[in-house]
Amino acid sequence: MRASGSIRDAPATTCAWSRVAFFGGDKPERLIFAANATDALNLAIQGLLTPGDHAITTTLEHNSVIRPLNHLKRDRGVTVDFVPFEAGGTVDPDEIASRFRPNTKVVVMNHGSNVIGTIQPVAEIGRRCRERGIVLVVDAAQTAGVIPIDVEAMSIDVLAFTGHKSLLGPTGTGGLYVRDGVEIRHTRFGGTGVHSAFPYHLDEYPYRLEAGTGNVLGIAGLYFAQQYLAKRGVDAIYRHEMELFARLQGGLEHIEGVKLHGTTSLENRLPVLSFTLAGRDPADVGSLLDVDYDIACRTGLQCAPLIHEQMGTGERGTVRLSVGPMNQAKDVDAAVTAVTEIAAEAHAKA
Ligand SMILES: Cc1ncc(COP(=O)(O)O)c(C=O)c1O
Repeated sequence: MRASGSIRDAPATTCAWSRVAFFGGDKPERLIFAANATDALNLAIQGLLTPGDHAITTTLEHNSVIRPLNHLKRDRGVTVDFVPFEAGGTVDPDEIASRFRPNTKVVVMNHGSNVIGTIQPVAEIGRRCRERGIVLVVDAAQTAGVIPIDVEAMSIDVLAFTGHKSLLGPTGTGGLYVRDGVEIRHTRFGGTGVHSAFPYHLDEYPYRLEAGTGNVLGIAGLYFAQQYLAKRGVDAIYRHEMELFARLQGGLEHIEGVKLHGTTSLENRLPVLSFTLAGRDPADVGSLLDVDYDIACRTGLQCAPLIHEQMGTGERGTVRLSVGPMNQAKDVDAAVTAVTEIAAEAHAKA
């Protein structure tokens, strides 16, 4: 249990309880708060792997997974396999299992791609990991708050989330849910506010992975955002976003010069797409969308260089558009019109 009579009682503790319920876990003390998904993933990756261990990941990952693993590979004697994704944008669970070795300690992968929006078969991979006693760490930065996650049903051992995306919380919030029985070594030490005479950092969760003063205001914001999500419903939000997404993708795919990357399937995906426009640098398209049309997008490699390398967009990247819960059909139509106009201009110049 979290300490009583402290700030953890409200609203942060209420938040912890309901967040845990949200992810299907049942141990509130095993939900720890961190600064963002990157922070949470670093705690997990660096706290699970030791020299001589083998880790498996995929080419779909964000740098928040790739870079910690590469540092451990270069500096700490950890070996890493990067499993490529299939043509449809998902990783084959058999391909992951075929890389298992006696010293494989961890599989770490995202639940949803931030570049092409595909949702990975995490439950199937989890089942295979569980049979071998391998820890499955899932990066749910893109899915928490929009796709239901049940850590038990999906055999997820460690779940990393960020507060500021589909959980609709403030920036500077995120965390980890760590299944009972999985122990992450602490890699940060300091004040916990309790047992101050003890000379070492506490082993007990959540203190084990939390050091120093937490982002209490941010966590309070996350709590109130969660009230909104609970009221509107994650499933309803997902349906709303996917309806708009179908409109967006359908509008873009008919524009001359537009190339959609990844799959166009509407199944098993997030409302996120990547495109390029013939004759225009993605960065220029992004600037035009921003400055001339007031449309926010992300261009370049989106912190996920390996997926671009595999897609053949490693040099300049793509333009990424995504749909959020507050978007309406008119926003999508404005984006389609904007890309149509930018494409026509590029065509006229060619
Ligand atoms: C798949 C994925 N993982 C991790 C992150 C990092 O999240 P944060 O900025 O909260 O550290 C992102 C952010 O874009 C992401 O899309």
